[in-house]
Amino acid sequence: MESSEAIRPEKMGPLVMKETWNTPGGIVSWERSENIYICRGECGGMVIMFLSDEIVRMKVFRDKVPDLTTTAAILPECCIPHLFPVEETENELIFTTSAIRLILEKSSFLIKVENMQGKVIMQQNLTSWNPRGASHAEYDMQPDSHFYGLGEKASFLDKRGERYTNWNTDVFAPHLPEIEALYESIPLLIHMHGELSYGLFLDNPGRSDFDMRSHGVAFTISCSTGAYDIYFINGPHIKDVVKRYTSLTGRIPLPPKWAIGYHQSRYSYMNQQEVLQLARTFREKRIPCDVIYLDIHYMDEYRVFTFDPVNFPSPDKMIRELGELGVRIVPIVDPGVKKDPNYEVYKEGVLDKHFCRRLEGDIFFGEVWPGISAFPDFSDSRTAEWWGDLHKYYTDLGIQGIWNDMNEPAVFNESKTMDLDVMHFNNGRPVTHEEYHNLYGMMMSKATYEGLAEHLQGERPFVLTRAGYAGIQRYAAVWTGDNRSFWEHMAMAMPMVLNMGLSGLAFAGPDIGGFAHHTSAQLLVRWTQMGVFFPYCRNHSSIGTLRQEPWSFGEEVEGILREFIGLRYRWMPHLYNLFREAEVSGLPVIRPLILEYPRDPHVTNLCDQYLLGENVLIAPVYRPDTDHRSVYLPEGRWIDYWDGEVHEGGRHILAVAPLRIMPMYVREGTFVAEGPLKQYAQEETGEMIIFHLYGAQAEEGFSASYSLYEDDGHSFSYRKGDYSEMRVHAEAEKGRLMLKWSYTMDGYKPHRETLRFALCYPFFETAAVEGLGEISIEELDEGRAGWTRNGKGGSIIVQVSESRDGGELVIVAAQG
Ligand code: GLC
Repeated sequence: MESSEAIRPEKMGPLVMKETWNTPGGIVSWERSENIYICRGECGGMVIMFLSDEIVRMKVFRDKVPDLTTTAAILPECCIPHLFPVEETENELIFTTSAIRLILEKSSFLIKVENMQGKVIMQQNLTSWNPRGASHAEYDMQPDSHFYGLGEKASFLDKRGERYTNWNTDVFAPHLPEIEALYESIPLLIHMHGELSYGLFLDNPGRSDFDMRSHGVAFTISCSTGAYDIYFINGPHIKDVVKRYTSLTGRIPLPPKWAIGYHQSRYSYMNQQEVLQLARTFREKRIPCDVIYLDIHYMDEYRVFTFDPVNFPSPDKMIRELGELGVRIVPIVDPGVKKDPNYEVYKEGVLDKHFCRRLEGDIFFGEVWPGISAFPDFSDSRTAEWWGDLHKYYTDLGIQGIWNDMNEPAVFNESKTMDLDVMHFNNGRPVTHEEYHNLYGMMMSKATYEGLAEHLQGERPFVLTRAGYAGIQRYAAVWTGDNRSFWEHMAMAMPMVLNMGLSGLAFAGPDIGGFAHHTSAQLLVRWTQMGVFFPYCRNHSSIGTLRQEPWSFGEEVEGILREFIGLRYRWMPHLYNLFREAEVSGLPVIRPLILEYPRDPHVTNLCDQYLLGENVLIAPVYRPDTDHRSVYLPEGRWIDYWDGEVHEGGRHILAVAPLRIMPMYVREGTFVAEGPLKQYAQEETGEMIIFHLYGAQAEEGFSASYSLYEDDGHSFSYRKGDYSEMRVHAEAEKGRLMLKWSYTMDGYKPHRETLRFALCYPFFETAAVEGLGEISIEELDEGRAGWTRNGKGGSIIVQVSESRDGGELVIVAAQG
């Protein structure tokens, strides 16, 4: 425990900065070279590159020749400068694109970005640097400013009034709002003020700070080493910023379907009997599950790329048996390679110079789980290839997913990481660890993903990581590290994962149930309810804590968890659609309400409820012994998922939520595609799709559109066109509902004969479907075309034959 000594004045650093801070002074000359504008000041200067009409890179340089390299965060194909007109006046340089005007004040290097209506979107007042290599910039902030993004950070959704550090850190201590750095660093800040939003991405993998504590005056961004290399990303909506930021740093690849199933983990399942028994229990209890994780105890004294010969004597047999049950394993792989001259990986790493070294040539050693270890230098593509290739050991066993942990890198020493003077070879452009730190974990996952992809021959790999930097989404899903079984941590997972989604990390989630400390029956239920609609869904807990597999708290709890995990599987077609959307547009799978309702003042910091996609509102209960909660419904009409009750939006309602219920609402005019309940994502059951249509007011009418994406769920052949897309459209007015569907892409043929539509629409109690007969549910299940009443909420189910030509039907309310 810390005492007040922790805040002794001399520990707080110099209160007055003693160094001189340099600024570029005024512009003394400027030139254009290959569409790049180089503006030189009295000392140093700034390079301006327009990467599109909406994205501008501004890199400060101190030397004579500006260095234009980027980090691995930026997709090289996006870093091509475009030519836009520039006009020089006495005081300014004015660059104009179709969307923005960037005005550079010659006397001060002050930069203003305006929209075409002349409204100031962003103002950068001052950039400066000190002789120790730190840089700093100050930006205007408004009284109505709100801040989002910044990846994995504690506290609430809106980062106004907070300060954060980007320095990947292994934090086992409870994640509290005051913790400024966690495992991932995504230096993207989204600033919304009034009707305008923009993003600032600082491409610097060293330590950086974003300080939004001055209420309404200015915010600052600083970095302690490396270049001040900032990208302005235009809005005006947050959605535009997210799409553009992810066009620059990449989007998630569509995961294999199994990776978006339910995952079960524990530090550790200790032997192969335990793993097999666990898988059998899932199947016996009919609780769906796709993945079991192997934590560090599967290895031979924590040597990566080995199995413990005593506790896991026949991994191939275990994996085969698991395969028969439809369960995969994902083993953990940490970067620390045990120092042991009899261990092949270590020997090879030393002999072929794959480990991080100091400038003088000696290998850096640090202590982690295996004891003294060396750390591969993933910045070197030769080493990255070597590491990727080592994964053949796993793929030969039938493994398709790897869990990267401790890759900040975490080291058991005072600084918690590698010494700052260790070098990274960086393909011939060596940098110190101090400058490179936040990239280390991402480059490990990149090497892992690429190695797996190589050896899986066309199957989609899955990588999970704890550490990362901007762009990590291209290679790995991210989990939020060592949280605790605290209700507060369950609640905090919402803003954390929502902001991660706004920062490009569309495939993310926390350890469900909490990692450290002991979970409870209620906490596990509530957390699982919330977690089954998070993109990444894994229950994981630490050694020495209460067990938290779904059956750990008796039958009632088990029943509720079975129901909710089952719901994730029934909603898999819809979820998969959202993952596809994330791959194509960069928009996150789960979203804070501010993303969809940017003009609603009630949602600027709303983060105890979230949206799945655009139109499904999830409102978890996140306090113990609570069976009611307030829910904010934005404008529109919302239908209670559980009882069909219709609520007018734009107000708060009190939801009733006994333990078995998590409040969920679907916006009127929404389709949700559901499939059959499966025990694992690609279980071969009779395939079926039910389009649930949520409507409310027949008289006033509504319309709904949906596009269902389908492919084989496991290979990359969708990238060659082997996928299908079905458009479904509904138009309701004056007692008639017209439904139309057609394939706009049919490169993949789903194995099914029929399609179903479930119409959750009260007036259909008295409706009939033109040209189709009313039949029983049993006849529907036999595959006949027709329609039937569902009872609940007056909804009806219509079944038609599947046809590549699409079709349409009309449902008419009965007269009287
Ligand atoms: C770290 C990980 C945790 C894992 C443990 C043992 O604490 O964050 O998930 O179980 O190491 O490998």
